Amino acid sequence: MSAKIIDGKQVAARVREELAGLVAQRIEQGGSQPHLAAVLVGDDPASAVYVRNKERACAKVGMKSTLIKLPRETSQSELLELVASLNADASVNGILVQLPLPPQINEVDVLDSISPLKDVDCFHPENVGLMMQGRPRFLPCTPHGCQELLIDSGTIVAGAHAVVLGRSEIVGKPMAALLVQKGAGANATVTIAHSRTQNLAEITRQADILVAAIGKPEFVTADMVKPGAVVIDVGINRVGDKLVGDVDFEAVSQVASAITPVPGGVGPMTIAMLIKNTLRAAEIQTGTSS
Ligand code: GUN
Repeated sequence: MSAKIIDGKQVAARVREELAGLVAQRIEQGGSQPHLAAVLVGDDPASAVYVRNKERACAKVGMKSTLIKLPRETSQSELLELVASLNADASVNGILVQLPLPPQINEVDVLDSISPLKDVDCFHPENVGLMMQGRPRFLPCTPHGCQELLIDSGTIVAGAHAVVLGRSEIVGKPMAALLVQKGAGANATVTIAHSRTQNLAEITRQADILVAAIGKPEFVTADMVKPGAVVIDVGINRVGDKLVGDVDFEAVSQVASAITPVPGGVGPMTIAMLIKNTLRAAEIQTGTSS
């Protein structure tokens, strides 16, 4: 078997087109241009690329973005002060602090200080709680992007056994929460497996849908995948000068029925969902949300 490639780049372009229409409509009706403020601390090259891609995506849909670059030595209190000023700035709708942060900064304290109404990453405990309860204000960008790819590829999620490999706050945990909800692209039976799971391959082989977010290059091998499974690869790992996912793409695409590539799978969808959240944040803040 040779799996169908789920083209995240193409789906993300379509989502952006829809969002561009909604942004134009909002502005036509006298609404403000949605505005994302991204904060980058230090000079991590991968983070710089991500932030640049986020800015480009904003421009493509007609949104405003501001990048605030701070030196690697920035103190916790300086960063908290910046976030407080962005919280208070009514012209800023969404705030994104790019992770990871340098070691002198407590990530949780900084993320918790972002106004929940501007928390377009959906990292704030209030927003995580609302999402868990099935009444989301925002949806977490990467898990939401994966869910949209499942829907777009025609994967039947309801009643399927979804195995999420990885338990991070950014992907694994919220991914499992979205898949188990009632609603489109959900209603799955969900297992979370991780680095401490016993008989891991036995569990992943039971997956109709396998979401790999364990952060280890090409960790998922063909023998870990049930024939015909749909495989979503969230990993982005640099190996030498090559980017690879958490899935051994060549081998697993001989077993799976559909698979996302790296790059060009989940990554562009994460950014598209961030843009969607920024528009939603603008709508919530100006009382124009439906
Ligand atoms: N670093 C890696 N992924 C993410 C993300 O989704 N949001 C933020 N803010 N930082 C990240």
